[in-house]
Amino acid sequence: MPLLVTGAVGQVGTDLTAALRARHGADAVIAVGHRTPPSAAFRAAGPYETVDARDRDALDRLIRKHRIDAIYHLVTLLSGAGEQNPDLAWDVNLSTLKHVLDLAVHHKLAQVFWPSSIAVFGPTTPRLNTPQRTILEPTTMYGVTKLAGENLCHYYALRYGLDVRSLRYPGLITYKTFSGGGTSDYAVEIFIAAIERKHYTFFVNAQTAMPMMYMDDAMKATLDLMAAPADHITVRTSYNLGALSFTAAELATAVARRVPGFTWDHAPDFRQAIADSWPDSVDDGQARADWGWAPDYDLPTLVDTMLAGTAKRLGAKG
Ligand code: SER
Repeated sequence: MPLLVTGAVGQVGTDLTAALRARHGADAVIAVGHRTPPSAAFRAAGPYETVDARDRDALDRLIRKHRIDAIYHLVTLLSGAGEQNPDLAWDVNLSTLKHVLDLAVHHKLAQVFWPSSIAVFGPTTPRLNTPQRTILEPTTMYGVTKLAGENLCHYYALRYGLDVRSLRYPGLITYKTFSGGGTSDYAVEIFIAAIERKHYTFFVNAQTAMPMMYMDDAMKATLDLMAAPADHITVRTSYNLGALSFTAAELATAVARRVPGFTWDHAPDFRQAIADSWPDSVDDGQARADWGWAPDYDLPTLVDTMLAGTAKRLGAKG
């Protein structure tokens, strides 16, 4: 039963470790971090190990030590960080995935989860309601590694019968962890500015839209995907996963409706080109048909939840 979560201190890992512990028990989930130190509360919540996932032998030792049965492999450099350091993104994103897949086969693990991203799409991909199977010509190193990783997962499923499952996460919005390095970060930063009663300058223009999702929906999708019977899983690359699509201007207007006096403007930087290369919305019909995917959060609910959560978090800090 024991599960390993790599990247456990990151944006997805913080929530996913908690969600898995709620479902399977605290001691059944081994959180693995590397550079970012976990908070005292995170350390107290269950088993924690420090390992660089590029070190195959260290991963191997962890799997043996805890008699691991499934791995949620979240370690990654996101799109913005990947453009600052493409070589590191290649190494961190792909060498660690190869280790995890090889060790999963070797130790006959029951399951592997690995997140892909809307970053596998590129400027030649249909922009609206992007199909599950479509043109995949990413223009970021992050997207290149996610696309290669999807194909590697597919190969291991076919060749070795490994039960590896994946989701193309949209931009994920949460108040619990701010890890940085992503192009969708403006949809988190805006809430911090609003709560601190500061002006917010978007690093993308007003018309920018991309698929977005509140973190709780992403957690529900991940747990539901992993709990589905194996014969329901018809996609072994990675599932499209949709929830929300709004422009930067629509998001700012929704925040201003709740925070009177909130102001913003736009100063696009290198991340504008990344955002422009991604779709506005995706068709997730296959995920809905195969394992019953349906999101819960709409934009007004997301805005209210993010404002309340961000206020609580910043208040608790200060
Ligand atoms: N949130 C990610 C990023 O912006 C997209 O997968 O890099």
